Amino acid sequence: MNLLLERKSIRRFTNKEITKEDITKMLKAAMQAPSAHNQQPWEFIVVDDRELLDKLSLASTGAWMLKNVNVAIVPLLLPTDKSPHFAIQDLSAATQNILLEATNLGIGSCWIGAYPLDERVKHIEKVLNITGNIHPFSMIALGYPKDSKETILRYDKSRIHYNKRGE
Ligand SMILES: Cc1cc2nc3c(=O)[nH]c(=O)nc-3n(C[C@H](O)[C@H](O)[C@H](O)COP(=O)(O)O)c2cc1C
Repeated sequence: MNLLLERKSIRRFTNKEITKEDITKMLKAAMQAPSAHNQQPWEFIVVDDRELLDKLSLASTGAWMLKNVNVAIVPLLLPTDKSPHFAIQDLSAATQNILLEATNLGIGSCWIGAYPLDERVKHIEKVLNITGNIHPFSMIALGYPKDSKETILRYDKSRIHYNKRGE
């Protein structure tokens, strides 16, 4: 539970580099995610090239923080025969696992949404040379947090129903 409460979207980072070992730990966490029929319809691009990160920061207004990171992970959604309809959920689980492992390592992260918004997806595909029926799902900005962020509890009893909703 602590990990869940500690995870917050971090958008301001120090210059401290993330080690390759820690990147691997986050990728291992990603690939440990559940997926429908265990199809694992994912690949990941680790972006640590300054020019590419700057270009990715222009994918949407919400991607600006990529200008201030040394590394980002871009999960890719691959075609899958068995459960294509669930691939978005598979990739969401993988993305969340990266955020949680980052938190576990003391690394700040921010999920930047891409798929299925055509403009963002096309921009990222062009920058990262992604072709065919493979698409960028999200972008995860990674770095050491510049300052701490307080935890705001969101538990809301009124959102919970037992058995049936309403009368
Ligand atoms: C699907 C998805 C897309 C998101 N896209 C962006 C984004 O483009 N830019 C951004 O700064 N934050 C983005 N976020 C982060 C949310 O703004 C953030 O999770 C939310 O405000 C709650 O704050 P917290 O993560 O600190 O708990 C996204 C989160 C999700 C789950």
